[in-house]
Amino acid sequence: MTTTMVVTIDGPAGAGKSTVAKALARRLDVAFMDTGAMYRALTVKALRRKVNLEDEGALISLAHETHIDLLYEPGRPLQVILDGEDVSEAIRTQEVTNKTYFIARTPGVREVMVHWQREMAGRRSLVGDGRDLGTVVFPQAAYKFYLDADVKVRSQRRIDELRAKGQAVDEMALARDLAERDRQDFTRKVGPLKKADDAIFVDSTGMSVDEVVELMVQHIRSNGRRV
Ligand code: C5P
Repeated sequence: MTTTMVVTIDGPAGAGKSTVAKALARRLDVAFMDTGAMYRALTVKALRRKVNLEDEGALISLAHETHIDLLYEPGRPLQVILDGEDVSEAIRTQEVTNKTYFIARTPGVREVMVHWQREMAGRRSLVGDGRDLGTVVFPQAAYKFYLDADVKVRSQRRIDELRAKGQAVDEMALARDLAERDRQDFTRKVGPLKKADDAIFVDSTGMSVDEVVELMVQHIRSNGRRV
């Protein structure tokens, strides 16, 4: 029996986790799992169905009757498949970004997500990014990182990302939403954003993506894996 390897990258919004996780997955030749995309996909479904987002029971039932697939090939955008439909773009709207909070704060929904994420990691080695991967989902992960950056830098990265996609950006509103999302992620009772005690803290404020990935590769190498 072969065992899979998991690398976790947790941290606040806009720290560059997905970009770094994708690049690291490529370097290690393993899969990439964007857990935020999973919370977002379920949010899309809840909004379309007009489920009362305050109704925990309804959200949990919805999670149980949902199938989410993440398809990723290096060099191509991540494809997020919700019950067979590609929702890769639908999950990135501002409304979904702000409403994901309701899904993420519901313990029963998090249980379902954690189960799916462990299943994925049971099938193949991967680099995953999220908020609770090193603490809750994969406490035994081979390598754990916590990626942070100055809040102004994180805001600016998100602004640049949206502009690059041709979207209009209200900079003040974006900075406010990002700070609010951090607050919600840090303070929720179940699966809050938290650095695992054994995670390596990386401040990417003045670093390029390549530099962050290189630092992670060096750490993994120095801990026994050939990269
Ligand atoms: O990473 P991303 O910004 O796409 O995540 C969207 C939201 O999903 C986060 O603000 C957070 O509330 C939630 N999330 C979570 N646990 C994870 C990943 C994301 O609660 N492991």
